[in-house]
Order: sequence, then C-alpha cells, then structure tokens
Amino acid sequence: MLLPESLFEKFGTEFEAGQIIFCEYEPGTDCYFIQEGQVKITKTVSRNQKTLDIIGPGDFFGEMAILEEEPRSASAIAVDDVRALRFKQENFDSLMNSIPQLAFQLLKIFAHRIFDQRRRLQILIIDEPQPRIADVFLMLAEKDKNYGHTNQLTFPITVEDVAAWAGMAPAETQRVVSAFVNQGKLELFADRVVIKNINDFKRMVANKRKTLE
Ligand code: CMP
Repeated sequence: MLLPESLFEKFGTEFEAGQIIFCEYEPGTDCYFIQEGQVKITKTVSRNQKTLDIIGPGDFFGEMAILEEEPRSASAIAVDDVRALRFKQENFDSLMNSIPQLAFQLLKIFAHRIFDQRRRLQILIIDEPQPRIADVFLMLAEKDKNYGHTNQLTFPITVEDVAAWAGMAPAETQRVVSAFVNQGKLELFADRVVIKNINDFKRMVANKRKTLE
C-alpha cells in the first residue's frame, strides 16, 4: 500500500529484534502498522504463552484496545528489527477518515483473521498426529512470502507453538516433531523450526485430506 511520505516522518517508529512492544492486559492507547519486519502476537493460555499469529508488513496490530477501549488482548514482540507507524488513539478516527486506504487495510485484516480461524479449524479436523502437525507447517507456509519460491522455510516458532495450533499435548507434539527430525524433514532449534522441503508436508496433508473427503 502506498502511503504519503509525511506519515513516515510523523509516525515512524522502530523496535529491535526480541523487544516487547506491549504486554497482554496493559492499557493500550497506540496502534501500529508494520512497514518492515515481523511481530509475534502471543497470549497466555493456562499459564503458557500461545502464539496467535506472526504478522508482517502491511499488517495492523494493537487496534483492538483502541476500538473496544479494553486492555491489550495479547502481547506483541518484535521477531526481527521492525519498522512501523505508531498511531495514537486520538488520531485514529481522523487518520481513518483522511486515509481511506488505512481503513480498507484494517477491514482486510479483520476478514483475514476470520479466514485464519477457519484455516485453523481445518487442522483440527485431521485425526492423525503426523498429518495434523504437517498441516500446521503448511498453514504457516501459506502465510510466508517465500512459499512457492523456495522449498526450505524457517518459522520463528517453538514446539509449544506447534502444539497449540495442532490442539495437541506438547509431549506428543515433541514426539512427532522429533520423528520428522529423524527423517531429515526438519531441523529444530530453541527459537525456530527449519522445514527442509515444505512439499513433503504438503503431500502428507493432501493424502490425508483425500481420506477425509
Ligand atoms: P490489542 O488487543 O490492542 O493488542 C493485542 C493485539 O494483537 C490486538 O489488539 C490485535 O491487533 C492483535 N491480535 C489479537 N488477536 C489476534 C489474532 N487472533 N490474530 C492476530 N492478531 C491478533
């Protein structure tokens, strides 16, 4: 989306990799529009941090506290160095009125979140652990700008994140992920998962879905 250059001068802000931008339950008076970098949105569920989403350029975050006048519904952490526009609550209405592209972008993001919820349900319909976890990787790949250009993909996620998306216990998820590691399908690090060839997982999911039709 092409935005007026003056917006960047007036509202531009930066966060370093790993920086906490805001925490769940805090009062929130600012919202952000990402220009560069990725932001992880996490929520505490049963004392565990669950990743709701990893968002990137063109995404808004922090708008819910402003629109609903509620505390932050989730935490936001910079995954890598992030450049963003920061809008204050008091400027929000006039910005949306004066720059309709921003309002339209917000609408698209809300529609996308509904699509995302439906996509997550598709994962839960798969009744076998291996293809179910494969579908978690596929869902993440579908949102990755490199998907379709390169077979190897890196996601800044943990096994606990995978378990939460798969709706499975962390121990069972770890067992399945370790089996993928042993088969050479992925590499596991403390802060990321490297998928060697996303097409392996795509095939696994497609074969499973055929049996569910
Ligand atoms: P806010 O509640 O102000 O602070 C946390 C932000 O995370 C929230 O606004 C949204 O911008 C974002 N957020 C909340 N839930 C989700 C979700 N399920 N997927 C993506 N982003 C979310």
